[in-house]
Amino acid sequence: MKILLTGGAGYIGSHTAVALVEAGFEPVVLDNFANSHPLVLERLADIVGQQIPLERGNVLDTPWLEDVLRRHQPAGVVHFAGDKAVGESVANPLKYFHNNIGGAVSLMRAMETVAAETPDASPTLVFSSSATVYGDPASVPITEDFPRSHTNPYGHTKLVIEDMLYALHAARPAWRVGVLRYFNPVGAHVSGLMGEDPAGIPNNLMPYVAQVAVGQRDHLNVFGNDYPTPDGTGVRDYIHVQDLADGHVAAIKRLLGGSTSFTVNLGAGRGHSVLELVSAFERASGRKVPYRIAPRRAGDVAQCWADPGLAQRLLGWRATRSLDDMCADTWRWQSGNPNGYRSS
Ligand code: WQD
Repeated sequence: MKILLTGGAGYIGSHTAVALVEAGFEPVVLDNFANSHPLVLERLADIVGQQIPLERGNVLDTPWLEDVLRRHQPAGVVHFAGDKAVGESVANPLKYFHNNIGGAVSLMRAMETVAAETPDASPTLVFSSSATVYGDPASVPITEDFPRSHTNPYGHTKLVIEDMLYALHAARPAWRVGVLRYFNPVGAHVSGLMGEDPAGIPNNLMPYVAQVAVGQRDHLNVFGNDYPTPDGTGVRDYIHVQDLADGHVAAIKRLLGGSTSFTVNLGAGRGHSVLELVSAFERASGRKVPYRIAPRRAGDVAQCWADPGLAQRLLGWRATRSLDDMCADTWRWQSGNPNGYRSS
């Protein structure tokens, strides 16, 4: 069965493509390479031993999306495509509303049009959401019934797209919708052939630490050590990208098996501080990661980690890889590809 991955050449999408092939599915990557690299397709082929079909284009092009859906007739669609830099979304909210919300509307309209051409169709859609929809949680661990809010336009787009999906499902009960709220995806494929490749200065902790360890950056700025946490630095639920990819496969299987729609947290269910991650990375890489304490970053929360119990019960899935695994796999990718997918 074919599964269409919008944004499938991206960090989470490409790792999900590998997991889908290993589970016997046929992923089709749809991407415009606005925030990903064509080399990913070659690396995918190296890992899975077969070419993954590519549809190159923009999800905002609804007629083109309809054509892709008609030609491939995928059993399901996973919607990864979108912009995801919190800081950029504050500076350029219209780009995020247009690309993220507009892209999701375009995809859902194309799916609805094509589904109408098949009697009794049950369009199946998995959406890449984020723990950012929980805003600043009143407590941890976080369960799916926690109140949602947004603290930046990026998080706002995730919340709006969730609400659009819920409204669509209410109007079209035949649709099968899986909303997956990612916590902090980190790590790289164990082969070292694929990994996170942020453009410019990384916003996120793990890729920044990796670039310090490999010598690309002088030191890490730790954004605050006066939080109400064990060592004063921010605590997050880091989840290995391959565990996250396995969560997508479990979600697809459950939806295609006829399950009702669901929203689940995809997290490891434990928190680690910035300094714990730095220490783990030094152990994994054998390199020092110099750091300086810097002022808090606007919008950061002290602690955020998941209660992944619902995903475990519904999907029979849980994260299995440790923080040491995440650091070791990141280091293998970073040290083997110091410039990511761009040629050295
Ligand atoms: C983690 C911790 C920082 C960088 C964001 C998005 C979220 C999701 C994941 C897309 C925090 C600290 C970081 C640095 C630091 N993205 N830090 N120095 O902010 O939890 O989540 O990325 O879906 O939606 O909000 O992740 O990796 O940026 O920060 O001290 O140079 O590391 O303060 O405590 P975050 P992060």
